[in-house]
Amino acid sequence: MPSSSDAGHLPRHLAIIMDGNGRWAERRHRPRTFGHRAGARAVRICIDFCLARGIPALTLFAFSSENWKRPAEEVGALMRLFMRTLDTEVDELARRGVGLRFIGERAAFPQEIRERMARAEAATAGNTGLVLTLAIGYGGRWDIARACRELAAEAAAGRLDPASIDESLLASRLGLAGLPEPDLFIRTGGDMRISNFLLWQLAYTELWFTQTLWPDLDEALLERALSDYARRERRFGLTSAQLAGGGT
Ligand code: FPP
Repeated sequence: MPSSSDAGHLPRHLAIIMDGNGRWAERRHRPRTFGHRAGARAVRICIDFCLARGIPALTLFAFSSENWKRPAEEVGALMRLFMRTLDTEVDELARRGVGLRFIGERAAFPQEIRERMARAEAATAGNTGLVLTLAIGYGGRWDIARACRELAAEAAAGRLDPASIDESLLASRLGLAGLPEPDLFIRTGGDMRISNFLLWQLAYTELWFTQTLWPDLDEALLERALSDYARRERRFGLTSAQLAGGGT
């Protein structure tokens, strides 16, 4: 029986929808922003876990393109939290070998955040201990549409033969280009949906859902997800017999 401690059964890329901050705070009769601050502590636990277990890539959905429609006060508090976190954590992440990347529509963010994102990416460029991608202002449909627009423009300019557009070319223009597709997707907070996260890359990803609210995340929960993952048979459209090398 495979166990999560076998390197072959560790995900190479973990993608997470961190849901439940608001409910966690409301249950304590505190403002939703209190939950987001607790959520930032859970992000640290998750990064420490990936570094300790040797999971090489972690992608976190921190702010969706739809989250802009939340009350201005909550959006403002999240922006301040992102900014403060970038100010206080990037040096330490760089020292620990974490490479930071951002995917999403940056133009929508205030200049001071865009500058911090660019600085964080430059300060951690080339670090491969853990590639940490923060999806902020991100939507899976937006990412695919943007990549298609880029390819269409190149084709219209005569620099690209439309016949050469295939799955791998399109994937190479998406935000997560260069990383393996996520092996394991986790969503906290009880809802069982993808919510416009990594629509292209989750095609063959193992999905794992938990009722636990994001700020309550701990190592034991992540261990449970990993050991469930290690027991799953990933067939990628083949049969079990084919996978075992036993023919069709
Ligand atoms: C979803 O919970 C969470 C968010 C929209 C924000 C995620 C932000 C963090 C985890 C904190 C900081 C992150 C970084 C990278 C510093 P929700 O508000 O939708 O919760 P609910 O479903 O209970 O309302």
